[in-house]
Amino acid sequence: MKTMAIIGAQWGDEGKGKITDLLAEKSDLVVRYQGGHNAGHTIWVNGKKTVLHVIPSGVLHSSCTSVIGHGVVLEPENFLHELNKIKHITNISPENLKISSTATVITQFHKLLDGVRESQGPEKIGTTGKGIGPAYEDKISRRGIKVKDLLDKDTLMRRLGVGYSEKAILFKHLYHIDIPAIEDEVERLYKLGQEMKDYICDTFSLIDKSLSEGKKILYEGAQGILLDIDYGTYPYVTSSSTSSSGIYSGAGIPHHQLDEVIGVAKAYTTRVGEGPFPTELFDEIGQTIQLKGNEVGATTGRKRRCGWLDIPLLRYAIKCSQLSSIALTKLDILSNLSELKVCYAYEVNGKRVDCAYPGINLYQAKPLFKEFTPFKDDFSDSKTSKELDQYLSFIQESLGIPISIYAYGPDRQQVIFKKKLF
Ligand code: GDP
Ligand code: IMO
Ligand code: MG
Repeated sequence: MKTMAIIGAQWGDEGKGKITDLLAEKSDLVVRYQGGHNAGHTIWVNGKKTVLHVIPSGVLHSSCTSVIGHGVVLEPENFLHELNKIKHITNISPENLKISSTATVITQFHKLLDGVRESQGPEKIGTTGKGIGPAYEDKISRRGIKVKDLLDKDTLMRRLGVGYSEKAILFKHLYHIDIPAIEDEVERLYKLGQEMKDYICDTFSLIDKSLSEGKKILYEGAQGILLDIDYGTYPYVTSSSTSSSGIYSGAGIPHHQLDEVIGVAKAYTTRVGEGPFPTELFDEIGQTIQLKGNEVGATTGRKRRCGWLDIPLLRYAIKCSQLSSIALTKLDILSNLSELKVCYAYEVNGKRVDCAYPGINLYQAKPLFKEFTPFKDDFSDSKTSKELDQYLSFIQESLGIPISIYAYGPDRQQVIFKKKLF
């Protein structure tokens, strides 16, 4: 097996960081292909916590090269801050961390626009406020700034100037806020570019060469399939292609198929921000899961909304990303609960629905639950109880693809492999 992808199968925060770190040990390259520092990927090794935002989760393995692909939106100041923090933990240098010269830059204007739209705009999405949406807008409308543009002041001034006057009018007359002068932003970005320059390269060619040399490549998704700009619960989504199709456009994997696409899913469901959530719990059990699971956003510190596992949504996610197996995380959080349920289908307008196709109005979806005898496993050995086995078999049979990894704690060691990977 040479190429593998780790994709969030729900609304993000499924444990992608942990699973990527785990599989990075045997990978040559770990590649991020979309999103930006809206992501928060947590890794625990021997009781020490690391949260990564835009740097790939392979970075703790010095043998592996981390690649920020061209589909990513990169905020240079945040990147350098993250880099400096990581340098205290692991050996990281331009040898093992590469940024695509054609990744898109997030500027101050993007961040300001994101914030002001959330606070003053007609519709609140509940974004992370990092400027992700506005940066992708500029990219798609061909006004974006590429990482390589940071290295030349004249180019930077010209590129930044393309959308500046329009933005200036918007900020002044619609939102009534002051924005930095273009010259100041050029100076700021140029300086940051100089600090980053040794890391910048043509990552497309690097990936192409690595593939032809038979190297093992792990693609790390950010967010989750239900936040995908096309497949997700629009408009309550992020602005990138979070599903496996984003790999082809956002990283470059010429003429290659992915050998394994692992969808990471929690044994329950969480969501941050606005939008529909059929199995959301508003009672004590939901609060218990939120507290026990420490369901607080790794990037924004917001409480995550919690609910039971939603099979119709996962069935849809499997189709959207051709998932070949599932890594099921946070089983330990469900252990010893007073009740245990799984949503196996919805009822919508009196009809049973098994898969959350886009035609289904999720606000009208009434979840149909199967109740299980709660399991009480403490995962101190590899044995699993009859109750847990019943729960897992039901999920696997309902999804029709294998569960390749079970996770029962945040640490790198706290997993059971059910399938040989890499
Ligand atoms: P990501 O964005 O998908 O990488 O996930 P986050 O890091 O935002 O959130 C997942 C949280 O769950 C992190 O705090 C992880 O350390 C933690 N985690 C991952 N797997 C497990 C698990 O199996 N059990 C427990 N208790 N925590 C886990
Ligand atoms: P990881 O990679 C969970 C959500 C935000 C909001 C919507 C749009 O850690 O799983 P954005 O700032 O992207 O424009 O916000 O997407 N969101 C996430 N939710 N995990 C994430 O990343 C997320 N990144 C964005 O909460 O609802
Ligand atoms: Mg996260």
